[in-house]
Amino acid sequence: MDNIGFYRNSSNNLSVQNIDVVRLIEKYGSPLYIYDGDLIRKSYLNLKKAIKPINGNVHYAVKANDNLGIIKLLSQLGCGADVVSIGELKKCMKAGMRPRNIIFSGVGKDKHEIEYAISKGIQQLNIESVEELDDVIEISNHLKQSINVAIRVNLDIKANTHEKISTGDETSKFGISLLEIPKVYKTIYNSNYLKPYGLAVHIGSQIFDIKLLKNTYSELKKLANKLIKLGFKVNNLDLGGGFGVNYKKFEIQNFKKIEEMLTKLFLGSHFKICFEPGRSLVADAGILVTKVIREKKTSAKNFLIVDAGMNDFIRPTLYNAYHRIEPILTDTSRKKIFYDIVGPICETGDYFGLNQKIQKTFKNEFLAIMSAGAYGRVMSSNYNTRPNIAEILVYNKKDYLLKNKQSITELINQELNPDI
Ligand code: LLP
Repeated sequence: MDNIGFYRNSSNNLSVQNIDVVRLIEKYGSPLYIYDGDLIRKSYLNLKKAIKPINGNVHYAVKANDNLGIIKLLSQLGCGADVVSIGELKKCMKAGMRPRNIIFSGVGKDKHEIEYAISKGIQQLNIESVEELDDVIEISNHLKQSINVAIRVNLDIKANTHEKISTGDETSKFGISLLEIPKVYKTIYNSNYLKPYGLAVHIGSQIFDIKLLKNTYSELKKLANKLIKLGFKVNNLDLGGGFGVNYKKFEIQNFKKIEEMLTKLFLGSHFKICFEPGRSLVADAGILVTKVIREKKTSAKNFLIVDAGMNDFIRPTLYNAYHRIEPILTDTSRKKIFYDIVGPICETGDYFGLNQKIQKTFKNEFLAIMSAGAYGRVMSSNYNTRPNIAEILVYNKKDYLLKNKQSITELINQELNPDI
């Protein structure tokens, strides 16, 4: 069987699809995001297989990694998209996705975004508040154009995950609370152009607790059945994303436990089910390559100061997220020591790993920050006037440049120099 993802070749060096990562660094430079398209395909197909018994559909949450090349790859496999901005919607269309395969989620869709989504005839717009519903009714009346709407329900369920990515309880800004749903559904029914499509839920990200997911999904199903009893049509259940990724150890996502749970809950039911996964399709399929600028030893610590910064990858400091850090080239004769791997930015929070034990490393050598394919480059900034870095995709054994490295001139020229 072929190796999948980023693996050690016979010389123990990091490789992807038989290509030495070091060759890619020679070609594209450092820092660099590298994605393995074959692993993205594998994860998508595994999820598709897991939800086949219940006839489920996948809408990739584009926010996790919004490269045109990645959206296109998934779209060509038949995957739809879940978007949260007009920018993401336009990107999906440019990547060849049909609006009929696109769900528009998000708590703060602006009027012009709603208008655009309706005019393009997207598959489904998820309503997050009664105030938003009023806007959607007004806009659809004005356009005289219909739109499928689902209501995102807030079931007041707290996910056991980082507080900043937990979205399911009453205190969060997301969704409409359970008690209000029948009234809201009735408003949709009484409107001229809104088509009641179904219900949606998403309680958070990086969730491993299958029981909690089961509980969430069955609460949503109960609510759907209640609405049906009241005489409403509820055909679609959008179960959101959130499937967790093991950042400690690479394992191919096989979604087996999820399959079992879903089959018990939905096999034979009339509901059309869909999911909005982001992280579980792309996290392990990406690495961030970075060069060691220099070592620094203090009485307390060994530091490796690298050429990527928190502006390129903010997960470690923003969520206290752990990411494995590995040398690109391995030298087994070197002993392993504890390092703090830090960036060049003027903040103590600018780190990728604290107290990570890796082989003794010297300046100008390269490291890989592993499982950086989701919520990596998409969350980057130009902090410290640092240009954005390049991204490449390896797919079917070929490498493709996805985004050029931004130049400092480009970055500076974006700005106006006021005559003051
Ligand atoms: N659907 C909705 C409505 C969402 O809000 C999200 C993620 C997803 C789907 C996809 O969830 P996933 O399958 O990726 O867990 N930046 C954070 C994660 C933020 C997630 C936001 N919403 C991180 O780096 O951990």
